Amino acid sequence: MDTKSNGADGYMFHLKPGMLLGAASAATQIEGGESGHNWNDWYHKGQIKDGSDPAHATEHYRLWREDVDLMSSLGLKVYRFGVEWSRLCPSEGSVDAAAVAHYREEMEYLREKGISLLLTIHHFTNPMWFEKKGGFTKAENIKYYLDLVSLAVRSFGDIVSEYITINEPNVYAVNSFYFGEWPPAEKSMKQTMAVMSNMAVCHIEAYKLIHKMRSEMGFNDTKVSFANHLRVFDPANRKDPRSIICSRTLEYLFQGAVSEAMYLGRFRLPLKAPRKIERGEYCDFIAINYYTRSTVSGFSDGVRKDAPKNDLGWEIYPDGIIRCAKKIYGFVKKPIYITENGTCDNKDDFRCRYIYDHLKLLSETDLPVERYYHWCFCDNFEWNEGQSARFGIVHTDYETEVRTVKKSGEFYSAVIRDNGVTTECFDKYVRDQKYHY
Ligand code: BGC
Repeated sequence: MDTKSNGADGYMFHLKPGMLLGAASAATQIEGGESGHNWNDWYHKGQIKDGSDPAHATEHYRLWREDVDLMSSLGLKVYRFGVEWSRLCPSEGSVDAAAVAHYREEMEYLREKGISLLLTIHHFTNPMWFEKKGGFTKAENIKYYLDLVSLAVRSFGDIVSEYITINEPNVYAVNSFYFGEWPPAEKSMKQTMAVMSNMAVCHIEAYKLIHKMRSEMGFNDTKVSFANHLRVFDPANRKDPRSIICSRTLEYLFQGAVSEAMYLGRFRLPLKAPRKIERGEYCDFIAINYYTRSTVSGFSDGVRKDAPKNDLGWEIYPDGIIRCAKKIYGFVKKPIYITENGTCDNKDDFRCRYIYDHLKLLSETDLPVERYYHWCFCDNFEWNEGQSARFGIVHTDYETEVRTVKKSGEFYSAVIRDNGVTTECFDKYVRDQKYHY
């Protein structure tokens, strides 16, 4: 850990040449509104720990212009954001033209501000009409997701060239169908694997569809991937063969098998493609969401006792971002976008160091890292944790919806402006910050 500034040219490090920085978000976590999705329903079932309502969130649907102005004033170059499926398609087969126009207006405004767009088509949330049909557990429902993809490209394809088909299929499948902690709260290994398999097919079909549609529209700059949630799995005891085997097995079940299926169309057990899928390379960039490491003993993952942790108890392990990226780059030689990285730091007293540590490694690696999307911009609705877990570089006052740039927001903005971290900036924002243990 760097504790003092010592950069010879006035810099602690320079950003990798050409690397662009910005922020990531997801529709449900910021927009607010009751459009009939499964997280509206989950809230009404009393499942959000602090009782906060996604219909409120940060009211970005109303305040989007101010939010974009703020992003622009901080100098963000790239923005990853999502659309709400139930807003675009409130019932099966319907399209809400006003919602399409709304998203388009925001995208055009972002472009006017010189912020480059990365559109996420699906980020955890489903309309209830889709959920009631069995959602992603059923292969015959893949067509509904592809209708959404087609709608997105028809509506925004002329102004958006970069797409994330699906956010974190593993997190979605495991939380919703294995642990039963997210809607629809099932606990079935079989369903978990069916969902991962079906989502892999969704991604592959979407990859092909987006390319086809945009090339028919005359564009040849299309880039498509899925946001892959990766964590490091390390055995609690590196000398214990059982611990090593358990850690490798968990890694394979959680992220290894689904990564191979989604990137390469290679389905290995326990995944099974519900239809014939050609082997191929189904991504134009590697999109990694990285937060933490799991320390495995037996078949459960935990957190090392002596490790620095964030406010949700997740280990802070910057080296992991490189370890994960290397693993995927080992079999997919594509540019790397870090599509999420960030931390829950309610007091904003170590986030500058967190950003510094991760960005430094990303800037110094030989891997072709092209983008970094910090999670997230404004504090927002953190799923089951509601409003209680703050990940933003901008503070949200949930009573008034007033946004206030945090120290970490000032720091991040300075890093973008200076194309790296100057010694002065390090002294001002990072030097005195310490992780919590
Ligand atoms: C998800 C985000 C979430 C973040 C922090 C990621 O797994 O994509 O929606 O807010 O982690 O928990």
